[in-house]
Amino acid sequence: MKKVLAGLAAVATLFAPGLALAEKLVIACGSVGQEADVCKQGAEAWAKKTGNTVELMSVPQDAGQQLAQFQQLLAAGSADVDVIRIDVVWPGLMANNFVDLKQYFGEDVLKEHFQPIVKNNTVNGKLIAIPWFTDAGLLYYRKDLLEKYGQKPPTTWQELVQSAKAVLEGEKKAGDAKLVGFVFQGKAYEGLTCNALEWIDSFKGGTIVDSTGNVTVNNPKAAEAIDFFAGLVGNVVPKGVLNYQEEEARNAFQAGNAVFMRNWPYAWALVNGKDSPVAGKVGVMALPKGGADGKSTGTLGGWQLGVSKFSKNPKLAADLVKYLTGPEEQKRRALVASFNPTIMSLYKDPELLKANPFMGSLYDTFVNAVPRPTITGAKYNQVSTEFRNGVYATLTGKGKAADNLKKVEAKLQSLGKGGKW
Ligand code: GLC
Repeated sequence: MKKVLAGLAAVATLFAPGLALAEKLVIACGSVGQEADVCKQGAEAWAKKTGNTVELMSVPQDAGQQLAQFQQLLAAGSADVDVIRIDVVWPGLMANNFVDLKQYFGEDVLKEHFQPIVKNNTVNGKLIAIPWFTDAGLLYYRKDLLEKYGQKPPTTWQELVQSAKAVLEGEKKAGDAKLVGFVFQGKAYEGLTCNALEWIDSFKGGTIVDSTGNVTVNNPKAAEAIDFFAGLVGNVVPKGVLNYQEEEARNAFQAGNAVFMRNWPYAWALVNGKDSPVAGKVGVMALPKGGADGKSTGTLGGWQLGVSKFSKNPKLAADLVKYLTGPEEQKRRALVASFNPTIMSLYKDPELLKANPFMGSLYDTFVNAVPRPTITGAKYNQVSTEFRNGVYATLTGKGKAADNLKKVEAKLQSLGKGGKW
């Protein structure tokens, strides 16, 4: 029997040398907005082309909870997932558990992508992931409502508050009880870290930890910024925002219940979708400055695809990553779901720019986005947690920003080496 089987195998190899057996891969690729659907379409296209199958692993929407799920799987050496989507702030946290993709991706492919992202994905010389899409915080606004009340798109946060108040006053009189001024991601999770970094940077209050490793979070400009936003809660900003992630903010805005929204590019395709009540009524711009001498800034976000070290099929998994991160698929994803490509030449593609004009007009916002303090390496998640908890305390009325930031500073210094990173 053994002989017969061995013979059959030899015959199969002889007659179909290039035909590998169909394999099944598992990919974890996000669940905010259209993320899962659009990933599935791409994965299925690859599966059809190669004769394999791909299954999606379900993941929570909260980036921090996703991280916990992957860390658990990887710590257990699990082969249950082959391709993992990695947040731009994770490479320093999990590099050891990924395959070095340099063996599968040549310089010709890598040089097409934004180089700072490729660099960010390279840890101690190991390329742990390929850029998939990039992100920066943006301001969405209701063009129709601003026009109705003679308001211009705001260049400062203070102007945003004034405009929101003017619109709210008029619309409330006209009987719209549900309308609120501004929604963002205010829950105590990674999204709040992104929002609060934007507030602080826009007031020129630095970046939590600076590029040389000094903890800078406790300064008067940073405190002014956080107190400013805390002062809006219950006023122009509904209290419910303190429990909002990306999708809660988008749902409120898309239903026509908010004048302004801070969100990532993915919201563009959805708020302009066929069934969206606000389709065609939305403008998008860079986030406002923290006062006349502040700066306009957006936090750098975005996701990469890496291959788990525990995958039974790393070579095939790398082929799936190559397909999903390639130019054709990145363009498709931008057209159907407004995910910003990481391949530079796509920003000159007329079809893509027609569907997403902001990708051209706000190009500088994406290229100059402010990074979170990943200089803190393996401790980034702790740093982010301490920071946003301090911000959240202020937003919920538990102390002034100056006192809370002082406590955050002490915690970050004790996490870092000798008070410094
Ligand atoms: C977006 C960003 C990601 C960030 C997350 C926070 O998905 O791309 O970088 O960590 O939002 O909610």
